[in-house]
Amino acid sequence: MSRGIPGNSTQKEMEEAANTFRLLIGDDSTEAGVIINRFSQNSHRYEEVLGRMNFTGHTQCAQSAADWFPRNRQDVYILDVAAGTGLCGDELRSHGFRRIDALEPSEQMLAEAKKKGIYGQHFNVVLGENNVDIESGTYDAVTISGLSIVVMKKLPRKAFEELIRIVKPGGYIINASYHNIFPEDGDPEAAIFRSNIKALGSQGKWTLVELRRFKDYVCGDDGAVSVHKVL
Ligand SMILES: C[S@@+](CC[C@H](N)C(=O)[O-])C[C@H]1O[C@@H](n2cnc3c(N)ncnc32)[C@H](O)[C@@H]1O
Repeated sequence: MSRGIPGNSTQKEMEEAANTFRLLIGDDSTEAGVIINRFSQNSHRYEEVLGRMNFTGHTQCAQSAADWFPRNRQDVYILDVAAGTGLCGDELRSHGFRRIDALEPSEQMLAEAKKKGIYGQHFNVVLGENNVDIESGTYDAVTISGLSIVVMKKLPRKAFEELIRIVKPGGYIINASYHNIFPEDGDPEAAIFRSNIKALGSQGKWTLVELRRFKDYVCGDDGAVSVHKVL
C-alpha cells in the first residue's frame, strides 16, 4: 500500500508506526471493545501506520473477490465487513466493483471511510453475538480484510451465522487474515475460530472453495484468503 505514504520513512517514523501497530493488534488478553477503541483513537493515522507495516490484506482480499467474480462486477453487491477506513473498498472499486456497503464498529474509522464516498450504506455495527439488522440473502459476497486478529480468533459462531444469513445462497464469504489461524497445527489460540468454521461446514451452511496462502500479509508474516461458498 503506498497511498499517502512517503517513500522513505525515517527510523523514528518506523518505530512510531510499529508501536501504534502493536497497540492496534493487541494480544490474546486484550478485550474486543478495547481494540475497537484503539482503532477509533488512531483512525486519522491508520492508513499511514498500516502502510509502513506493509499491510496487503486489502489488496489480497479484493483480488480474491475479483477472481471469484470475473464478470459483471458492477452488478455484484458486496458487504465489506470490518471496513475500517475503506482500504478494501478502494481496492474492490479498482477491480470494477461498484455496489459496496461497509460494516464497521468504530465510528471514527467509519467516518474516514465515509469521506471517500466509495460505500453505499455505512453500518456502524459490531460483529459478534448480536443480530445484524440486514435482510437475509441481501449480498452476493462479504469481504473481510484484516478484521482484528484478536477478535477474529474469538468470534462467536453466531457472527459467522449472521454473515452466512445475509449472503445469497451461492454467494461467497472472503476472509483475508494471518495464515497461521487456518491450519489445525497453527495458532492454538485460534482453535475456536477453526472449530466454528469447520462446524458450519459440517452443518451444510457453507463450504470452503479456496484457501490461498500468500507472502507478506503484514510485517513480513504470511497471510491467507479463505473463500467459503454459502449453501
Ligand atoms: C486492521 S483493520 C482492517 C480495516 C480494513 N478492512 C482494511 O483492510 O484496512 C481492523 C478493523 O476491524 C474492526 N473490528 C474490530 N472488531 C470488530 C468486530 N467485532 N466486528 C467488525 N469489525 C471489527 C476494527 O474496528 C478495525 O477497523
